[in-house]
Amino acid sequence: MDTSLALRRAFGKFATGVAVVTTNGEGGKPFGLTINSFSSVSLEPPLVLWSLTNKSPNLEVFRQASHFAINILSSEQRQICNQFASKIDDRFQNINWFRGVHDLPVIRNTIATFECRRSQLVDAGDHVVFFGEVMECEQSDLEPLVFFSGQFGTTKHDG
Ligand SMILES: Cc1cc2nc3c(=O)[nH]c(=O)nc-3n(C[C@H](O)[C@H](O)[C@H](O)COP(=O)(O)O)c2cc1C
Repeated sequence: MDTSLALRRAFGKFATGVAVVTTNGEGGKPFGLTINSFSSVSLEPPLVLWSLTNKSPNLEVFRQASHFAINILSSEQRQICNQFASKIDDRFQNINWFRGVHDLPVIRNTIATFECRRSQLVDAGDHVVFFGEVMECEQSDLEPLVFFSGQFGTTKHDG
């Protein structure tokens, strides 16, 4: 078996949530893409990270941006996940969103939001790791969209 395929398959055995990371480009134009590389890092100070492939056309926008927002999707937001992973021109079309702190694009009805000030950027292989300090956070009790072995699902928990 192709080793990179074997590695992808093995990486995919770590079940994750799914998020859309957003920011503003020049003139306040909103940008965003679907990620599952989000991780919480530190409570004091409050830090998170996510990684972006260095082939992404969005790399420069996120490199230049002082802030980003992480929108953690609910099980009802599969369409939003697909839209922000697609190549359409306007990924925000028909998306219910508003401008939060620092004018960041925030998607409504998610299970959590983290509005962050970007801190470190680390080049790591074929990705760039973005660290951010959480300025604002919100959460709800909706069920998560879960990504596992290349497939989507959700999880029910007893509270
Ligand atoms: C569930 C899921 C998780 C993803 N996670 C990441 C990620 O963590 N980092 C990344 O760079 N791309 C990730 N992608 C791929 C991007 O969403 C996709 O390549 C998108 O087209 C990127 O937009 P861009 O190429 O315009 O930057 C993921 C896609 C899906 C469907």
